[in-house]
Amino acid sequence: MPAIASSVEVVPRSRIRELAEIAMSMDGVLRLYFGESNLPTPDYIKQAAICAMQQGFTFYTENAGLPSTRRAIAGYYRAMQGIDLDPAEEIVVTASGVQALHLGIRCVLDPGDDALVLTPAWPNGSSSAMMANARVVQVPHPLRGERYAIDFEALEAAVTPRTRMLLYTSPSNPLGWVATDEEQQRLLDFARRHDLWLIADEVYDRLFYAGGKLGEPVPSILRKATREDAVLVIHSFSKSYCMTGWRVGWLIGRRDAIAKATQLNEFIVSHAPTFAQKAGETALAEGEPELLRMLERLKENRDLCLDALQGLPGVTVPKPDGAFYLFPCVEGLDDSFEFCRKLLMETRVGLAPGVAFGNGGEGSVRICYAAERSILEPAMERLTRFLRAGG
Ligand SMILES: Cc1ncc(COP(=O)(O)O)c(C=O)c1O
Repeated sequence: MPAIASSVEVVPRSRIRELAEIAMSMDGVLRLYFGESNLPTPDYIKQAAICAMQQGFTFYTENAGLPSTRRAIAGYYRAMQGIDLDPAEEIVVTASGVQALHLGIRCVLDPGDDALVLTPAWPNGSSSAMMANARVVQVPHPLRGERYAIDFEALEAAVTPRTRMLLYTSPSNPLGWVATDEEQQRLLDFARRHDLWLIADEVYDRLFYAGGKLGEPVPSILRKATREDAVLVIHSFSKSYCMTGWRVGWLIGRRDAIAKATQLNEFIVSHAPTFAQKAGETALAEGEPELLRMLERLKENRDLCLDALQGLPGVTVPKPDGAFYLFPCVEGLDDSFEFCRKLLMETRVGLAPGVAFGNGGEGSVRICYAAERSILEPAMERLTRFLRAGG
């Protein structure tokens, strides 16, 4: 019998999904394991999709996405980041952030290349690199005092003649860490010095609590990079606009990479759903008031969870500046999957095990605090009771 290709057999299962599958077979679970809010997509976006369908946006589009959607994304970067992008040559609309990441990675890696990934990180980047038959080298963020940092010495030491790319995520899933201005500059310098592609996953850039005022985005790496730099930015409508199920995102990068990504899109998904692209345009144009309300709620949720966990004996939880996750580290924990399984069975609280996020993740659990208060409050009460009782 022919076997499954060994190159894909090596791609591990998502351990977040593994835990979620157990939880989905149970009733009454307080679900904090996925990276999404339990709020539905706002009505104005749904209406835009309905309207788009009625207007006939139900046909194939360009592989790079509708020109109007790319113009809307370019306009958004001009307004939010002060960056001028060429919508015709520097942007591809993708069918989600996952697909942007996959497409970007596919464009820069050859079989046998090395891909550096800063971890703990959402596992899809490493898995996409493996699917491109590359070798993944995970370099963990060390916790220095109250803040996660980048271990630039470890990064230098990890470079080989086959290293082609470095992936980092800021704001980070699962850490909530946000790269400082200096860290961004050093990452860019590092990539330039070693002739690497720098892939920046910025899908959480609007979920930022440490800016001048709420609603300010995390400054994109594109502010520092030139358009000739080997930089790719991954983005998505999912997190800022509660559009996880719509599967629409974008990829920004150097012209040659975007041209190749556009061409490859034909063979992967052809393009993002047409009416979802139109709805995305409306989200970018009209989404600020709703986004601000969501940010206020998320910030309160973050503080509620921090209050519950900080001060618990044996629990370390740095205050995150972005995204919607806490990643508490539990002293003595060496099997986070088993911890989450037991927590689920005994308390019906579903968290993501830290081991799912690669090197540096074991020993922690990820809490997504985007849920409503009516879910978060009992979940935190049960979790803290469980932790106090020794897990
Ligand atoms: C860091 C990161 N990047 C990208 C994505 C992709 O989001 P989507 O595929 O829903 O656009 C996610 C989703 O959880 C994420 O956490």
